[in-house]
Amino acid sequence: MIEFEGVGHRYGERMVLSGVDLRLPERRVAFVGANGSGKSTLARMINGLVRPTTGRVLVDGLDPSHDGPAVRRRVGFVFTNPDSQIVMPTAGEDVAFSLRRSGLSRRERAQRAAEVLAEHGLDGYADHPAHQLSGGQKQLLALCAMLVLEPEVLVCDEPTTLLDLRNKRRFVDLLGTLKQQVVLVTHDLDLLGGFDRVLVLHAGRVVADDEPEPALRRYRELAG
Ligand SMILES: Nc1ncnc2c1ncn2[C@@H]1O[C@H](COP(=O)(O)OP(=O)(O)OP(=O)(O)O)[C@@H](O)[C@H]1O
Ligand SMILES: [Mg+2]
Repeated sequence: MIEFEGVGHRYGERMVLSGVDLRLPERRVAFVGANGSGKSTLARMINGLVRPTTGRVLVDGLDPSHDGPAVRRRVGFVFTNPDSQIVMPTAGEDVAFSLRRSGLSRRERAQRAAEVLAEHGLDGYADHPAHQLSGGQKQLLALCAMLVLEPEVLVCDEPTTLLDLRNKRRFVDLLGTLKQQVVLVTHDLDLLGGFDRVLVLHAGRVVADDEPEPALRRYRELAG
């Protein structure tokens, strides 16, 4: 269970989030809102990459600011910019690297990595240089490197910006089948049909919290 209790955040003098009180037990939760409305800041708090300046965040009762490693074992994070997430020379090694503490043998890790890549649109790319994948393929790689760890929660900050139609459909299908709780930040409103809950951020505050249709109606009104 992810909880925000009186969460606010400022970068220097700039107040970018305030008064965020949320309990998020639903399986599919999305944050939408204008550029700069605070979505990435909020998402990053879930695994301790950003610490709230006021209030606190809890994941299964653990505070990411204090129990970072324990929270990060539960929460996988997929960033907007996949380059920031690539750590190894090839796609297969990159996914296998996620499993370095799994207890699996080197061979088993490589095999598991190849399987996960094949499941998510990167069949045959295990030996491909990770930095020489296309932008969308890198997004898929970043997703694979998280999914292979089978976290309880997957936080994705605009994970589909570079995906083609087929891979975006694949991602939507994946959202339908993943056992994980997914917290998705997106500008791609087509992804949200099956979501349980959509929160609209506006100037650092949650201004709508509803099922997709009414929440997105409110978002469209705000966008003018
Ligand atoms: N590291 C930082 N230092 C200073 N200000 C920051 C930093 N990161 C974000 N901000 C500011 O905080 C505000 C919220 O940024 P955030 O990245 O959370 O927005 P966002 O809703 O994710 O926007 P987008 O849709 O463009 O990704 C913005 O005004 C931004 O300029
Ligand atoms: Mg953002």
